[in-house]
Order: sequence, then C-alpha cells, then structure tokens
Amino acid sequence: MAVRRSCAVGRGAYLPARVVTNDELAQRLDTSDEWITTRTGIRQRHIAADGELTSHLAIAAAEGAIANARMTASDIDMVLLATSTPDETFPATATIVQRELGMTRGMAFDVQAVCCGFVYALAVADNFIKAAQVDTALVIGAETFSRILDWEDRATCVLFGDGAGAVVLRAEDGAGTTADRGILSTHLHADGRQHDLLYVDGGPSSTGTAGYVKMHGREVFRHGVEKMASVIDEALAANDLEASDIDWFIPHQANKRIIDGTSKKLGLPADRVVVTIDRHANTSAASIPLAIAEAADDGRIQPGHLVLVEALGGGLTWGSAILRW
Ligand code: ACO
Repeated sequence: MAVRRSCAVGRGAYLPARVVTNDELAQRLDTSDEWITTRTGIRQRHIAADGELTSHLAIAAAEGAIANARMTASDIDMVLLATSTPDETFPATATIVQRELGMTRGMAFDVQAVCCGFVYALAVADNFIKAAQVDTALVIGAETFSRILDWEDRATCVLFGDGAGAVVLRAEDGAGTTADRGILSTHLHADGRQHDLLYVDGGPSSTGTAGYVKMHGREVFRHGVEKMASVIDEALAANDLEASDIDWFIPHQANKRIIDGTSKKLGLPADRVVVTIDRHANTSAASIPLAIAEAADDGRIQPGHLVLVEALGGGLTWGSAILRW
C-alpha cells in the first residue's frame, strides 16, 4: 500500500541587507570580537531596516521557495509561519504573508515555539499532509529578533540576528521505507517548568509591551547539549538508522560550541554539518530553513540525501526531524 509522505520540493531564504559585525557592536558595548567569536562562533548578523517587518522577510523567503518549487501561490493549501516576533499581536503574520502572496484560499496560522518553531511547524505541516487534509504546505521561519533585544545587554544582544527561510512541502506517495523521499519522522518536546531560563519580559496580557529577551545562557547551554543528544538518539532509533547514515546534520544555530559538541557525539565530521552561525548569528525559527536553503542552493544537499534537523528554544521546547531530500 502506498504511503503518503511530505516531500521538500522548494526552498527560499532572505536576509536583510544590513550586516552588523562584532567589531561594530564592540564600539558601543563592553564586548569584543574575540569574546563573541570564541564563546559562540558568531562573527556578524543581519539586522532588519526600520520599517522592514517579519512579514516582509517571510514573504521574500516564501516567494523564493514557491518559485524554486516551480509552483504558484495558488498551489499552496497551508501557510505556517514559525515566529516569536510577529508583526502584530494579532492576526497571525501568516495571514499577512498569505494575502501578500495573492492567495485567496487555504489556511494560514503562526506557530510559536521560539528557536524550535520551524521544527514544530514542519511537524504540524507534515501531520496535516499525512492526514490528507492538505496536499501542499508552505512552512516559513521568520524573525526580527533585533526588535526584542535590549541593545544595552551584552549577554543577549550579541547573539541574535534577523532573517527568514522557507520550505514547500508536497504530498507524494511512496513505499514508506527510509530510502523513500520525504519526512521520515518528527519528534517534539516541551518542558514549561524551564520557562525562566529563556523568555521575553513582556507581552500583550502582562505588560502591554513587547519586552526584551532574558536568558540564563549557561543553563540553556547545558539543556541544549543534553536535549539535542537525546532527541537525536530518539529520531535515529525511531527510524532504525545510525548517525553514520546522516548525510547532512542541520542543527539550530545558537552556539557553535553546542553544534560542535553534538556533531562530535554523533561522530559526524565537520564537512557533513551545515553551519551558518558565523554569518547569521541565532535567527531563532529562521535558522534551520536558512541553513537548508543555503546548503541546497550551493549543491551540498542532493536528491536522496538524508537530512537531520534539530532545535532547542524558549519554553523550553525542543525537537527533531529526519527527511530524505
Ligand atoms: N562580551 C563580553 N563579556 C560578556 C558578554 C559579551 N557579549 N556577555 C557576557 N559576558 C560576560 C559575563 O558578564 C560573564 O562575566 P563575569 O564572569 O564577570 O560575570 C562572563 O562573560 C561569562 O558569562 P556566561 O554567560 O557565563 O558565559 P558563557 O560561557 O555561558 O557564554 C553564552 C554565554 C554564549 C550565551 C552561552 O551560554 C550560550 O550560548 N548559551 C546557549 C544559548 C542558546 O543555546 N540559546 C538557544 C535558544 S535561543 C532561543 O530559543 C531564543
């Protein structure tokens, strides 16, 4: 019997034009390129221009993904936008994207799981496709974290950047083995008890302001290392795969040291790990689709390759997905 799977058939990316280097930050903060690079691997980040909103970034990435899929917006049944920096408290920024793409049908909503948002959105879209409720989904991760950073707080503001990435998923029937195309599995987790490790100190129902990112970096780092290892083990075991079967490991780009530690534990050489943190910094929900788009565009990811993605974000939330490209 044919098994219905969600196949990645298009990808797109967008980064704001303005690049801010570590040296530029060091001119107005008590920090240095050496500290930021050594602790995080970040050398620069892209920052949205005044008036450039999350929806603008998302639309640019979405248009690229739809064109890459050789589709038009009218082919899309569902728009999922992973973001923690929506244009407005409501409606969902996904509906703004839907409108600007010229779509007049289908569903559109935002998914909020902070840096794990793209993995959550991918899982939601995958399940709608597998349930045959939609055939084609546009999954976007887009953020303007620069708007929720306290630019006086050197412990957080140096870590993040703005950007967007998008993937088009389309239902395809196959034999359902790990050799067939499509998303093989997704695994999602949350532990709300860890709220205080990473949150924003504002919101419509609490302060009435957007607030700023607050993070206990060292504790988040500890959870990152531990939870990335467990969620990867879980994903490989669920598919009866070994780490050596993975062609491309595309982790959320939060800290190069977490990425290196996780890759080492998996036994994956550096040339099978996609790293963008040096140029993009942590773009939260956008980091994985940006990295997917980069590695697919430059020819590293080829049809038939096995791709593992994973992320940890505020909540805490964490998860993984394995897909055959
Ligand atoms: N420049 C210079 N010094 C700094 C800076 C800076 N930008 N930021 C902090 N410091 C100082 C601190 O004040 C502290 O000084 P002290 O020892 O005199 O008190 C010292 O550096 C060490 O600070 P730590 O926070 O302990 O540094 P650490 O080695 O843990 O690195 C970092 C901090 C980079 C944030 C790291 O903990 C990290 O990457 N954590 C994980 C973040 C993450 O994974 N986030 C993922 C989710 S993000 C999301 O969901 C939105």
